[in-house]
Amino acid sequence: MGLFLLIGVVLAYIIRITTVQYNLEITQRLNGSIAMYVAAEEQLIENGQHNEAAIKRLAERAMVINPTVEVYLLDAAGRILSHNIPDEAVLQRTIPLDGIQAFMQADAKRPLLSLDPRSPDNHKAFSAAEVRHNGELEGYVYAILGGQAYEQLAKDISQNYILQVALASIVALLLMGFILAWLMVKVLTQPLKKLTHAVVQFQQSETTESGLAAGDEIAVLEQAFSDMKARINQQMNQIKAADQNRRDLISNVSHDLRTPLASVQGYLDTLVIKGDALSDAEKTQFMATASKHCQRLNQLVGDLFELSKLDSLAIKPKMEPFSMAELMQDVSMAFQHQCSERQITMKVSVPDRPCEVVADIGLMQRVLENLIGNAVKHTEAGGQVSLKLHAKDHAFQVEVADTGCGISEAELPHIFERLYRAENSATSMSNSSGLGLAIVKKIIELHNSSIQVVSQLGRGSAFTFEVPRLA
Ligand SMILES: Nc1ncnc2c1ncn2[C@@H]1O[C@H](COP(=O)(O)OP(=O)(O)O)[C@@H](O)[C@H]1O
Ligand SMILES: [Mg+2]
Repeated sequence: MGLFLLIGVVLAYIIRITTVQYNLEITQRLNGSIAMYVAAEEQLIENGQHNEAAIKRLAERAMVINPTVEVYLLDAAGRILSHNIPDEAVLQRTIPLDGIQAFMQADAKRPLLSLDPRSPDNHKAFSAAEVRHNGELEGYVYAILGGQAYEQLAKDISQNYILQVALASIVALLLMGFILAWLMVKVLTQPLKKLTHAVVQFQQSETTESGLAAGDEIAVLEQAFSDMKARINQQMNQIKAADQNRRDLISNVSHDLRTPLASVQGYLDTLVIKGDALSDAEKTQFMATASKHCQRLNQLVGDLFELSKLDSLAIKPKMEPFSMAELMQDVSMAFQHQCSERQITMKVSVPDRPCEVVADIGLMQRVLENLIGNAVKHTEAGGQVSLKLHAKDHAFQVEVADTGCGISEAELPHIFERLYRAENSATSMSNSSGLGLAIVKKIIELHNSSIQVVSQLGRGSAFTFEVPRLA
């Protein structure tokens, strides 16, 4: 807007100046020879004496040619000797000669301005000619041209028709230009605004935090794009990592599946080919082994399925209040038989008062089964498996501990990884999938909690996690 105003003012100023200059130049070019004509007409000065009557006559004639002409007769030094206007109107009695001499030169630039004796502050277009008598310079004829016209132009631009039209058209043009520019900016920024809005909304739907700085649309857009770029990069890396995990898992799983499958096939083939040659006892043993491998296959496939369900968020924990103490009792009961068979003592210690927690009871049962199963599996005869429940401020802490073989420090960070089996499990490979602890960890994370483990080789292990208590 400011720029438009500035252009308008500058244009108006230029037009004003050039119009005045143009007027002056036209006046001077048209009437430049007036003084010469006057000087040539009659002998105005003779031996220093000026001819007053002749001057009056000539001035009148000059005014016929141009009514605004004011004629002065000067001596050789520029002093005014005579004129055709009222005497009291003449305020300046001497005219500087340099302007007059410049005017005499044919190649002088027009318009040339010089002093007006009636208003010494104003310089006006003029005409001049030498007055010679017998070749001697006697003085000059000096004529101010179109004095009034100049005054009018300079003082009152608004009365000049051309100037008015020009100014009006400039204002109109500027107005149109401004409206056009405003419309264009509007048309251009509207889609940009929409886009910015959409991007910001998209970004906020992705994440709750909105770190957008206030500012113009382009800055906001830029910020949004760089934020999204960072997030997309981060997600890309996550996807890559997840993809690598999946590849590893598939290759490990196929290996894990192939081993029991090959065994089953081997036993069945043997039975088919050498069926008659085998004793009944051998047959039964082969069949039992094959069945065991099938069980393991079943377990592996079941665990995989469960883990993938947990991963895909197909399972949403159904939070409900229940007594953790009762659940621990129930699950431990299921292991009683196995424990007495292997001469392991199972101890459950829970507070006397009801221990109400809020969690998914089915999933919590899976956690306990997996942890107790591991503990029993890795404990020698004569050992002990203990379940404890501690009341805390806002939660109950569950601990599953054993006096078994323990886990080496190097392996401890890996036991929650999928398909990871520590050295100690080599002996009991039969029902080991390496998925149990991964499932446990996943379920506990779904309850916004975490699981910890402390273990020492040869002394035993303890797994602890917390479950929020009923408020
Ligand atoms: N209580 C424990 N005592 C000793 N080692 C354990 C115990 N629990 C888990 N581990 C080790 O962690 C590994 C991973 O456990 P898990 O994921 O349940 O797989 P799996 O039980 O099928 O082998 C096991 O192979 C075992 O080596
Ligand atoms: Mg296990």
